[in-house]
Amino acid sequence: MRVLVIGQGGREHAIIRGLKLSPSITEVHALPGREGFSLDEAICHPISVTDFEGIYRTVEQCNISYVIIGPEDPLALGLSDFLREKDVLVVAPSQGAAQLESSKIYSKKFMTEFDIPTSSYDIVQSVEQTLVAAKNYKAPYVFKVDGLAAGKGVYICQTLEELKKASIEVFEDHKFKDAGLTALLEEFQEGWEMSYLVLTNGDDYETMPLSQDHKRLKDNDLGPNTGGMGAVGPLNVDPELLKQIKTEILDKTMQGLKKRNLLYRGTLYVGLMITKEGPRVIEYNARFGDPEAQIIMPLLDGEWGEVFYQISKGILPEVSWKPLCVACVVIAAENYPESPKRGVVIKGDILHETTSSYFLHSGTVKNKNSDWCTDGGRVLNAIGIGSTMKEALSNAYKQAKYSYWDGMQIRTDIGKKIL
Ligand code: AMP
Ligand code: GLY
Repeated sequence: MRVLVIGQGGREHAIIRGLKLSPSITEVHALPGREGFSLDEAICHPISVTDFEGIYRTVEQCNISYVIIGPEDPLALGLSDFLREKDVLVVAPSQGAAQLESSKIYSKKFMTEFDIPTSSYDIVQSVEQTLVAAKNYKAPYVFKVDGLAAGKGVYICQTLEELKKASIEVFEDHKFKDAGLTALLEEFQEGWEMSYLVLTNGDDYETMPLSQDHKRLKDNDLGPNTGGMGAVGPLNVDPELLKQIKTEILDKTMQGLKKRNLLYRGTLYVGLMITKEGPRVIEYNARFGDPEAQIIMPLLDGEWGEVFYQISKGILPEVSWKPLCVACVVIAAENYPESPKRGVVIKGDILHETTSSYFLHSGTVKNKNSDWCTDGGRVLNAIGIGSTMKEALSNAYKQAKYSYWDGMQIRTDIGKKIL
């Protein structure tokens, strides 16, 4: 089979690596992909993820068996429906189902209707409304823009003054453009976070290994929220808690999808806060997480090519997982997440890899002298695999040492809490 992967980040590189190891896959294509993916033999097509006609032409020309959509933007714009109408097999939810991610208000209403535990909330559209609604909450205030914001549209404000500043940024400075026309103010949840991803055909699901992302830029969970600075998995969690998550959250989410007639074939990501009162949904993502995919992909005991193919046809495959641990340490550009510095030459040996560690490319490019350079916020992912979490982390950090550049940012405490 020939597969087309849409996207160009570390998540898509992780998916490509998994497909490359699948005996059923003869060719892996990426759109637009990036030069670093070619190191794993992906054939890249420099076409925008929003150029639907261009994507369809590529599917036809390359005789693609099925398409995997990685990032949220084309999902929110309806790429999966567009392709399915042309009889292309797709691993991704419909545009309707992707609203679970593309609109925080849609997802809150969904959770309320199906009695899924989450924070209470108010919908606000101005600074004034935000400050009035704030009377319903205690600090810290959680303020979120409704639309897609690349993981940067959530403010945790310690004081009313900070909340006011955030709401001015959103409603008056229009930092998030249309994505920030409406926002939510919601109850703060105290606890620990985990990412629960499931593979689903919209009818039933298979759970994937649990992982933990590290969203803040700096060590000890300080600094601004980012797309994710590293992850580890699988987490060992009390089976009673897992049972509770299954009955109170995952099963009800499935029932909701069916009741609303939402076509879902792909990965559903449930971001959870485990509080003293039980698990609460913080967010849904209608796709693999980045960097969670980097953790999950190497853990399948089987072949991804076949698993994704079944999902694209609406069949739920049986899956099992290897008894291994994986760690991903993100190396980010100077000034990420505000305005990452591009074009900085990466030193060291970006091609270094061992049987238990390697790099994935999420923001690299080659310049005209053929030097690898930074070309995005999250630049490289150092992946480590081991039979214990300690070993996986040690392998990931050893790998990370093989590349460096001026101004690079890296957290030194990925997985520390789990250890
Ligand atoms: P989100 O993009 O919705 O996942 O939010 C980004 C991060 O903000 C989450 O990973 C949490 O760390 C934090 N967060 C979001 N909502 C809440 C909440 N209601 N209570 C506490 N922390 C939250
Ligand atoms: N790791 C969080 C996300 O993919 O949104």
